[in-house]
Amino acid sequence: MEDQAEKLRKLMAQLQPPLEREPIRPMLQKTTRVLTVTSGKGGVGKSNIAVNLALSFAKRGLKVLLIDADMGLANIDVLLGLVPQFNLFHVLLGEKNLKEIIIPTFYGLQLIAAGSGGIKELANLDEMQRNRFLNLIFELNLNLDMIIIDTGAGISRNVLSFVLAAQEILLVTTPEPTALMDAYGMIKVIHMEQKSARIRVIVNMASPGQEAHEAGNKLVILSKRFLNMDIEVLGTVPRDAEMLRAVREQKPILLSSVASASAVSIHQLANQLLSIPISEEVGTSLGSFFRRVTELFGGKSFGN
Ligand SMILES: Nc1ncnc2c1ncn2[C@@H]1O[C@H](COP(=O)(O)OP(=O)(O)O)[C@@H](O)[C@H]1O
Ligand SMILES: [Mg+2]
Repeated sequence: MEDQAEKLRKLMAQLQPPLEREPIRPMLQKTTRVLTVTSGKGGVGKSNIAVNLALSFAKRGLKVLLIDADMGLANIDVLLGLVPQFNLFHVLLGEKNLKEIIIPTFYGLQLIAAGSGGIKELANLDEMQRNRFLNLIFELNLNLDMIIIDTGAGISRNVLSFVLAAQEILLVTTPEPTALMDAYGMIKVIHMEQKSARIRVIVNMASPGQEAHEAGNKLVILSKRFLNMDIEVLGTVPRDAEMLRAVREQKPILLSSVASASAVSIHQLANQLLSIPISEEVGTSLGSFFRRVTELFGGKSFGN
């Protein structure tokens, strides 16, 4: 009997490169902002920040889709205490279409789960397969205010294809030198491939005092001096025992502990993001995201 991985390989093998690029479809009914959360190093708090930012926006009545694009180590569903029946793996197997795997969660926040368990085949998609996966996401016309994409860590092609297609990048780091080095490495790669990228740094697990701000400022100075690139520090999130409890209890702090220091900080980060005037370029970022993805890879989608 074929196992799932074998089925997936066969399905992927059937997907021939497209001869012609598809025309770009009108995607937007209103402005949809795409925020991509990434980091140089793993374990710096990306997923927790992505989930809680998404909840903060959703609580204000915004229509938000959270996409778990960490295909190697998917865990957004775990952080939300959900056990999705279907995830992206089922889409790639051709068993479900994307619309069928969107999970309604708290405050109207919608989630696309990547599937837990670190499925190797998903993490190892080649460019064409990744293209199809991205196209599927952007062919959904969900009338969203915001899409938040939680990516894996580091400079793999999988992570970069999401990061480079986005216009707004939230780069999470901790104040530790190793995390800062890796964050700078990520900034360098993003800069090399896309000079116009907007990078905002979030320093997580900050201890009281100035250390975290200083850490963020180091990245700003390095980027200016060596890359002539302007990045900014969006803010800091303190190291907070409530965050550990929230992870253990699978209840995000924006739901379980709104007055905790980390929840308040993340809510403030969301305020700040909303206060940034959306320039034309960013304002149409879902359209340009889709266009960039199409330009980069081209192709028709499957599964719906
Ligand atoms: N602000 C914080 N304070 C304390 N612990 C944190 C904080 N943010 C994250 N953590 C801890 O770090 C772990 C990794 O966080 P996670 O969001 O999964 O990181 P990533 O997605 O970057 O790999 C969490 O399980 C939690 O224990
Ligand atoms: Mg994560």
